[in-house]
Amino acid sequence: MAPEAEKAAEEQRVEESIARSEVAISVRGLKNGFGEQLVHDGLDLDVRRGEILGVVGGSGTGKSVLMRSIIGLQTPLEGEIHVFGESMIGRLDDEALAIRKRWGVLFQGGALFSTLTVAENVEVPIREYYPNIGPKLRDEIAAYKIRLTGLPEEAGPKYPSELSGGMKKRAGLARALALDPDLLFLDEPTAGLDPIGAAAFDDQTRKLQQTLGLTVFLITHDLDTLYSICDRVAVLADKKVIAVGTIDELLALDHPWIQEYFNGPRGRAATAAVKREKDKAAQTPPEGRQ
Ligand SMILES: Nc1ncnc2c1ncn2[C@@H]1O[C@H](COP(=O)(O)OP(=O)(O)OP(=O)(O)O)[C@@H](O)[C@H]1O
Ligand SMILES: [Mg+2]
Repeated sequence: MAPEAEKAAEEQRVEESIARSEVAISVRGLKNGFGEQLVHDGLDLDVRRGEILGVVGGSGTGKSVLMRSIIGLQTPLEGEIHVFGESMIGRLDDEALAIRKRWGVLFQGGALFSTLTVAENVEVPIREYYPNIGPKLRDEIAAYKIRLTGLPEEAGPKYPSELSGGMKKRAGLARALALDPDLLFLDEPTAGLDPIGAAAFDDQTRKLQQTLGLTVFLITHDLDTLYSICDRVAVLADKKVIAVGTIDELLALDHPWIQEYFNGPRGRAATAAVKREKDKAAQTPPEGRQ
């Protein structure tokens, strides 16, 4: 088969694999370490298709390393990782290209290229994965993605240094959405944002997940984010995922870290805030709702 036809056939096969998979990400027996330090040891995790899965754990428990392993930036010592049914371990970048195109990533800290404008940043994955797309269409796609994240169009020609923290996060999100992903990885997207900016970012994430049918792997320390938009939460501790479930399910467990995290003063405040919102929504007559 000609290389072009081979590529098209592979993309078709991956397309079908994605359509069939109920599990977006499956991790089994993952082991990661640096020198003497073992970060993960026998970590298992499933992310269901279409859900927002929150990933929590103390600082340094290996949340970012887990994400980097799934997207192939960190080669695990042991274990299996499947994304939409496709094995990701030991495959060359080229082989896994069809699946790599199906995800978008917002790294911890944003990681925008500082010498490129926002629009140019968004165009980076398009140039990389779809070199045949011409500059005019590329510009149009970038402008659309920028608007999709709630940024004004005028943000396109600006450099990252000219943006506020919240705008940088949105620019990073626009870049993560550049290729119309099925799967979105967000590492601490609301860190450093004020509470109003963080809530707006959460709303945007939920809206995008619902309208675009995304699966979202969301690392966060933000209790408000967990309560307001996550369908389930995975807890990393002791080099493993020690529990996965809804917050109510996690609260029923008597693990000391989980209890302290969700039932500590900040956890209780977040629960109370969500309850207030729900009560308010229940009291508002339907025609009065936005
Ligand atoms: N490239 C690397 N080389 C050596 N050690 C690393 C590397 N990347 C991560 N680590 C170590 O692995 C452990 C887990 O790091 P990771 O960044 O995944 O933590 P985290 O859970 O994301 O923490 P935080 O909540 O602070 O972002 C840490 O002890 C870190 O120092
Ligand atoms: Mg991290």
